[in-house]
Amino acid sequence: MTATLITGIAELVTNDPAAGDGSPLGIVTDAAVVVDEGAGGSRIAWVGSRTRAPAADARTDLGGRAVVPGFVDAHTHLVFAGDRSAEFAARMAGTRYDGGGIATTVATTRAASEGTLRALLAERIAELRRQGTTTVEIKSGYGLTVADERRALRLAAEVTTETTFLGAHVVPPGSARGEYVDLVTGDMLAACAPDARWIDVFCEPASPHAFDGDEARTVLAAGRAAGLGLRVHGNQLSAGPGVALAVELDAASVDHCTHLTGADVDALASSGTVATLLPGVEFSTRSPYPDARALLDAGATVALATDCNPGTSYTSSMAFVIALAVRELGMTPAEALRSATAGGALALRRTDIGVLAPGKRADLTVLDAPSHVHLAYRPGVPLARTLEVGGTPSRR
Ligand code: NIG
Ligand code: FE
Repeated sequence: MTATLITGIAELVTNDPAAGDGSPLGIVTDAAVVVDEGAGGSRIAWVGSRTRAPAADARTDLGGRAVVPGFVDAHTHLVFAGDRSAEFAARMAGTRYDGGGIATTVATTRAASEGTLRALLAERIAELRRQGTTTVEIKSGYGLTVADERRALRLAAEVTTETTFLGAHVVPPGSARGEYVDLVTGDMLAACAPDARWIDVFCEPASPHAFDGDEARTVLAAGRAAGLGLRVHGNQLSAGPGVALAVELDAASVDHCTHLTGADVDALASSGTVATLLPGVEFSTRSPYPDARALLDAGATVALATDCNPGTSYTSSMAFVIALAVRELGMTPAEALRSATAGGALALRRTDIGVLAPGKRADLTVLDAPSHVHLAYRPGVPLARTLEVGGTPSRR
């Protein structure tokens, strides 16, 4: 085992109030970190003030930069081929998003070879990692046949442990609604469950393509019976039943939360279900942003994620999402960073990531800036990158 001492950290965000200044971000200034590189990947051995740092085998100096926990992007749809820039341009000219464009990506993804999809996925993972994301959740949902959904999940499982079966993304064109729900909860689930940790459903009665509350309940119950954890796309286009259903079933996360009633906010605040906000979607669909302030003030746990997909949010940048959250969702820079790291970890029910403390994974992101505030203060500037210390495992 090799121990590496990292110094030159102007500001270390630990997300561990006990280790730092007592704030939720647990900030240590003029800090040091010791990372142990072992067979199972790198782990944090020590964090604290540089002046009290223990000796180590090797040393890295970051020259006065900020270090934050690696971003946890707990909601993406990275397995796809083709793009929908024309749909985006039409939306910017006034067309509304209703999920209909998903069928376009389903067609291009089905037509792509496995090798092409694997190469596209690898490029996207590299793009995420270059921008400071160390854990990524990946959904299927652009196959919508047994074979195409299974292929997507197998590819996703090659690059992450956070794989999500989203056969219930939309009813594919030409399929009868009831028969498709039967397929998703029957043969498709059976084929996909071995490669999936989670099941998700696009619960949105306001979309003619997505699923209503009863259908979503059926899908989630089947997934739970197959041993999968629950996630929900809810309340994206309307104040529908998604949030209430997610809370009732103790889903790990309900994502979008763009249109919430007061009862939805209260339900989330008194639940273990994380509200994952995806402001790249509102940016790219020209929709009103969700009210993060109401959720945080009520005591709900909030995560931020990119929702990286070719339809509603073709960004891989968690820094961009943080900047949007600060400027448009009413979050402070500290709240946004915490939601993009510890919040994402909670949305994935992970205790080994999101916090920089002894024993946790050494998932470190370095900023070309002295403070985390610069993530929102300098929007669009590529400040964040993943800090590789020794051998890091390829699957996160
Ligand atoms: O999370 N809303 C449902 N699914 C995706 C969009 C997929 C698409 O339009 O291709 C989302 O926004
Ligand atoms: Fe999504």
